[in-house]
Amino acid sequence: MSIVLCRTDEITDPGSRQFTWGTGLWPLEIFVVKKDGDVFGYVNRCPHAGHPLNWQRDRFLTKDQNLIICNSHGARFQITDGLCVSGPCPGSVLTKIRLNINKKHIIADKKELDTLLKQMQKHISSK
Ligand code: FES
Repeated sequence: MSIVLCRTDEITDPGSRQFTWGTGLWPLEIFVVKKDGDVFGYVNRCPHAGHPLNWQRDRFLTKDQNLIICNSHGARFQITDGLCVSGPCPGSVLTKIRLNINKKHIIADKKELDTLLKQMQKHISSK
């Protein structure tokens, strides 16, 4: 089943926007980056220390808008594949979410989001 996150024109290019999947105390936080007409989706969880990347709503990019930045300790990630290229966790990667564009909408896969949500909730409850 497909889930419409938003219309493509609801994110500037370059730009980013965040979304929440699930309910309760620990929903899945994700974000989408648009750059040069392409869109990329990631879980909003930094591989360095597990913090959300952004401090301000929908703000995930560096000032020059060429990289994704984690505001906690400054890790920077490539937009296209989520690879950390500088900061405290080089070589680690953001968890990617598969997206499609269909009739000017950005679409995610419900099954994938549900799986990621369950994995995250299992990880949190095991601590
Ligand atoms: S939690 Fe993201 S750089 Fe430390």
